This record gives sequence, C-alpha cells and structure tokens, in this order.
Amino acid sequence: MTKPLLLALEGKRQPTPPVWLMRQAGRYLPEYRATRAEAGSFLDLCYRPDLAAEVTLQPIRRYPLDAAILFSDILVVPQALGRRLWFVENEGPKLAPIEDAAEIEALDPTTIHEPLAPVYETVERVRAGLPDAVTLIGFSGAPWTLACYMIDGQGSKEFMKTRAFAASQPDAFRLLIERLEAAIAAYLGRQIEAGAEVVKLFDSWAGVLAPDGFERWCRGPLERIVRAVRAAHPTVPVIAFPRGVGANYVTFASSVPMQGLALDTSVDMDWAAAAIDPRVTLQGNLDPVALMVGGDALDRATDRIRAAMAERAHVFNLGHGVLQWTEPDHVTRLLRRLKGADTC
Ligand code: CP3
Repeated sequence: MTKPLLLALEGKRQPTPPVWLMRQAGRYLPEYRATRAEAGSFLDLCYRPDLAAEVTLQPIRRYPLDAAILFSDILVVPQALGRRLWFVENEGPKLAPIEDAAEIEALDPTTIHEPLAPVYETVERVRAGLPDAVTLIGFSGAPWTLACYMIDGQGSKEFMKTRAFAASQPDAFRLLIERLEAAIAAYLGRQIEAGAEVVKLFDSWAGVLAPDGFERWCRGPLERIVRAVRAAHPTVPVIAFPRGVGANYVTFASSVPMQGLALDTSVDMDWAAAAIDPRVTLQGNLDPVALMVGGDALDRATDRIRAAMAERAHVFNLGHGVLQWTEPDHVTRLLRRLKGADTC
C-alpha cells in the first residue's frame, strides 16, 4: 500500500484527504509538557534523540494522523553555523544578531553535520517506530526566514533590521542567503538519508518582502534548494510554505518544482483551487483559531475547505501551527469529521 500522504503528493486526489497538523506535537498536549519538563529546556528536548523521538510520536499514538513531523526547530541550523541561540520562556527565540559582512563570511555550511547529528538520530528513531501508513516529514527553515532571525536576533512583526540590511548591503546579504542555501540543501539530504520520506521548507516570514525581495530572497532560493534536493533524491517529495505571499503563491507554484504547496490561513481555498497550477498538491489551511474554539465553527470551516478542494489533490492541515490553548479533544473532533466516527 502506498501511504496516503505520498499518494497525495504524487497528485492523486483521494475521497478522504490525508491529514497532519503543523505543531501537532506541542504544548497543547499534556504528554508533551511532561516530556519537555523531563528534558529541562526546549533546546535540550530538540537535542535528545530519545525524547525528541518520543514527542514526535505522541500525536501519532493519540490520533489517526497520516504524517509525523520531526520534532526540532528551524533555528538549529543557524546554531549549527555557529550563531548563539537561546529561548526565553514566554518570549521565544533569541540569537546573537549578525552585524556585518565579516560575520557572514565566517559562516561555513560544511561544518553543520556534527552539531546536527542528534537530529539525524531522531529521524532514524522515529522512522523505526512509525506505523506502516504514516509518513515521516523532515524540515528546514528557508534562507529568508533563517536570515530574519540571524539579523534581527529575535521574532518580529516587520523584521526591519533584516530588510534594511538586505536593502543597504545586498552583496553581503546575497552571500548569507547562498551560505544558507548550501547548508539547508545538505541538511535536508542528511534527513532523507536518515529516513525522512518528505521534506518541508518553512518560509514563515516571506510575507514581509516587497516583490523584488520575494523573487531574490524567497522564490529564487527555494527554487534552487528544491532542485538540489530533487537532483540528489528524485523520488522524495518536497512541500514549500512561503507563508503570507498572497497572489505570489501563483507565481511560486508555477516556477518552483515542488510537489506540495502549503497555504496559510489568509488564502481563500476556492480561489486557490482555480488559480494555482493544478500539477501542485495543495496543503492547508484551517484557521488554528477554528481548531481552538471547536464546535460548529470548526465543523463548518473544515467542510468549506473540503468542498473547495473537491477536485484537487489535497493534504488537509492548518494554515499555521496548533495554538497552545487548543483542547486535545478538538483534534479528535476534526479527525472524526474528516475520517468518520469509527476511526478515533
Ligand atoms: O510542527 C511540528 O510539530 C514540528 C516541530 C516544529 C517546532 N518548530 C517546534 C517548536 C517546527 C516544524 C518548528 C518550526 C519553526 N520554529 C518555525 C516555522 C513555522 C512557523 O511557526 O512559522 C519558526 C518560525 C520557528 C521558530 C520558533 N520556535 C519560534 C518563533 C518559537 C516560539 C513560539 C512558540 O510557540 O513558543 C519556537 C518554539 C517552538 N518550536 C515550540 C515548539 C513546540 C514551543 C517551545 C516550548 O515547548 O516551549
């Protein structure tokens, strides 16, 4: 039997779409909170293969999901390139910000694999523990989004420091993006060799770019990374998530050779069904708020997405990650709605 997620990414429409959820392992699950407490800190959890594999598998034990996503974080790549990273409780990630071109020239993509070895071991362990029908997804942040954290030094709504750096020092910024492209393509290759069956690229902050920046720092780099991954591993599907790019999703889909395109919460799925290249499988895009509130609002939002995707290959997912305040029973309700009451 071919796994449902892999069938969807081959372009096959299925009566019941495969489903997984961004941040399906996380703070809304009591068993995640217990394992995270055992690890001590979030980063310790990311680098302990036994515990990271355990939290990857927790939502698979609880729900009839079609995929597991490696438990890690996009920011382990900047850390593996030598940038200082730490997480502040209730604030999120902090990085020592890059201030000049010399710090970019010092980044060496060939040195990442030793610090990232625990991630590859997590992938191996998860793959060995997964049920037959469940697909393992590996991932990386995309160059633009990683650069945003590396230059701004923390999360932001606007990423002004990064956008100003790119505009004022385009040659140095181009070098940063190129070094990240090399690191990311190599990182995804190693995840595939360790057992990842699909890889996903998160460009979470693509939506802050002006049109010229979208082309230079998001679409172009992702096209090159997808080509590199597919050249080395021609049968492994790639999902791209250029979050918040609106109508640019159309340009992206027709020019980046990925198999799956993740759509964010703001996208109208009826529009997407008609506007986006039919060769691409669409993933998304339930509002995480609908999952948090549950009830009829959740059922209605779920049904609308199903109806819009009736004629397309589709992977059901959220438009962004599960919110920490989500009741675990609401995920059960969603999966019953999608798959029938007898499945969970
Ligand atoms: O989806 C999954 O279940 C897989 C694991 C995963 C995490 N982060 C775990 C995590 C994945 C794929 C990511 C990707 C990630 N990390 C992104 C891209 C996706 C997106 O959300 O747009 C980004 C931007 C990051 C950086 C990051 N990591 C931020 C901004 C934060 C703080 C926000 C928050 O929710 O606390 C994190 C922390 C983080 N990454 C948590 C988890 C489960 C929460 C950490 C905790 O347990 O306290």
